[in-house]
Amino acid sequence: MKVIMLGAPGAGKGTQAKKIAEKYGIPHISTGDIFRANIKNNTELGKKAKMYMDKGELVPDSLTLDLIMDRFKEADCADGYVLDGFPRTIPQAEALDRALAENGEAVDHAINVEVADENIINRMSGRRACLSCGATYHIKYNPSRQEGICDTCGEKLILRDDDKPETVQNRLSVYHQQTQPLIDYYSKKGVLAEVDGTKDMEEVFRDIIAVLDK
Ligand code: AP5
Repeated sequence: MKVIMLGAPGAGKGTQAKKIAEKYGIPHISTGDIFRANIKNNTELGKKAKMYMDKGELVPDSLTLDLIMDRFKEADCADGYVLDGFPRTIPQAEALDRALAENGEAVDHAINVEVADENIINRMSGRRACLSCGATYHIKYNPSRQEGICDTCGEKLILRDDDKPETVQNRLSVYHQQTQPLIDYYSKKGVLAEVDGTKDMEEVFRDIIAVLDK
């Protein structure tokens, strides 16, 4: 099963993608997490990606596409994956379709997690992220057991640099310009499903399962 998570920054794509990956036994592939791991390890890719991410801009397709296409070649992708943060532009979506079509495959589901802009900034300021294992928490809606420490790997949790309100504002406008057109793109392909991302996390997950199990 090949699933794409769509939605504004902070809509809950990563939160839901992790649950989908666990339930269906497929990998959760987040381009944001891959870039952040590269930044943490101070790689050349990380240095380049950081310049864009810190401003809330998209990393250029030329850097993103090779990275994701290589990831698809790994053995754990044989039965599909849930993509979180990719594709993010029409050229990325077209590149994904071309790569899948080479093997007679296509995207099965594109899930749009809908949350209005006004809810997003509040959510982002409360998010805490683990740069080690990619786990995500929220100080109010999904707190870690011990404040500031990741439940999964015990590393320190941080407020992401790009979660500051002024950067979130720019990420939202980049989203509306460059990523929102994908909703129409996948709707035309007949694979789009919309879920209300303002509900409780478990309710959102139930709505997604209802789509995937249909
Ligand atoms: P990326 O890491 O993909 O960030 P994003 O898309 O902006 O999404 P987020 O991770 O911020 O949010 P999310 O929707 O996953 O929400 P989450 O589940 O954490 O990308 C970062 C940057 O990398 C981009 O700006 C770009 O520069 C670059 N990049 C990445 N991919 C790229 C690509 N393909 N091309 C080019 N550039 C790329 O939830 C948010 C918070 O809300 C959490 O605290 C969570 O606990 C809480 N929450 C979740 N659900 C609920 C709920 N139902 N109720 C209450 N709280 C909730």
